[in-house]
Amino acid sequence: MKKLGVLTSGGDAPGMNPCVRAVVRTATSKGVEVVGIREGFDGLLRGEMSPLAARDVGGIIGQGGTVLQTARSAEFYERKGRLKGLRQLNEAGIEGLVVIGGDGSMRGANELDKLGFPVVGVPASIDNDLWGTNMSLGVDTALNTIMEAVDKLRDTASSHQRAFLVETMGRNCGYLALMAGIICGAEVILIPEQETALEEVGKAVESAYARGKTHCIILSAEGSAHDTHDVAAYLDEMEVGFRTRVTILGHVQRGGSPSGFDRLLATRMGVRAVEALVDGEHGVMVGLDGRSMSTTPLEEVIGSKREASLEYFEMARMLAR
Ligand code: F6P
Repeated sequence: MKKLGVLTSGGDAPGMNPCVRAVVRTATSKGVEVVGIREGFDGLLRGEMSPLAARDVGGIIGQGGTVLQTARSAEFYERKGRLKGLRQLNEAGIEGLVVIGGDGSMRGANELDKLGFPVVGVPASIDNDLWGTNMSLGVDTALNTIMEAVDKLRDTASSHQRAFLVETMGRNCGYLALMAGIICGAEVILIPEQETALEEVGKAVESAYARGKTHCIILSAEGSAHDTHDVAAYLDEMEVGFRTRVTILGHVQRGGSPSGFDRLLATRMGVRAVEALVDGEHGVMVGLDGRSMSTTPLEEVIGSKREASLEYFEMARMLAR
C-alpha cells in the first residue's frame, strides 16, 4: 500500500484528533502517504482532500473536536453516492481508508468495503453504543465532563434542597447516564434499556427527601421512555418534598480536550487501524477487548448494538441509599 486516506464522520468525539495523528504518523513511518479527507463522506464526494505529513498533525493530540471536520452525509447512504466516493478515492490514488466515527459511519465504511475498497473503522462516539469494542473514543472524556457538571449541580441542589434532573446524550443508549449516575452517586437513573414508571421515580425522590437528604440527583438519558421535562413536571405536581430543576447538558458533552484515557485509546486504535490496512486486513473495525486491541468484522459491528448493562443498573439502585 502506497497511499491511504483518513476521515472523521458523524458526531465529533474527543479523541478523533489524537487518532488522526496516530494514523498519519504510523503510516508515514511505514513509507505510506496519507491523504486527509475533510468533512467526512460528504467531503469525499466533493473531493475535499489534501496530503497530511507527520508535521501537519503536530499539536493536535490534546485538541477536542476534529481538525478534519465532520458531517453526517445523506448522499453517501445512496449507492450512487458511494460510487461517486469510490471514484474520488481511485482518482486520488488512495488504496485504503480509515473511517473514524460512530454507528452510521461504520455502516458507510462497510458499504464502501463491500464495493471492493479496503476500509478499516475506528469507533468514535460519546454514546458508547458500538458493538465490537468495550469503549469508543470520546466516552471517557464525555463522562468526565458530565461528572464535573453534576458535582457542581449537587452544590446548588443541596443549598436549595432541590431535585435536579440532568439529561445526558447517548441517543438510544443509556451508558453515559448510567455510568455518570454511578460515579456521581445519583439517587435515580433513567435509561432506555430499563423503563421506570413515573410513580416509581416519584416514590424514590420522596423517600430520599424523607430520609433527610438535602438534594436528589436524577440522571436521565436522552433516549429514556419519559421526556425529562415531563418527569420534572410530574414530580412537582406530586409534591415529593423537593422542588425540581432541569439541566439538559447537550453538546457540551461532545467538547473538550480528550482525557488521558481517550488519547491513549485513540493512539492505539489509530496505530492498529493502519497496521491492519497495511497487512491486508479490511472490512473490520478496531476495538478494545479487555486490555487488548481487537478487530471485528464491520458486518457484525453494524448488526448489533451495545447496551448499558443492567447489572450496573441494579448496582446503582442498591447504592442509592
Ligand atoms: O451520536 C452522538 C450524539 O451526540 C448523540 O448523543 C446525540 O443524540 C446526537 O449525536 C446529537 O446529534 P447532533 O449533533 O446532530 O445534534
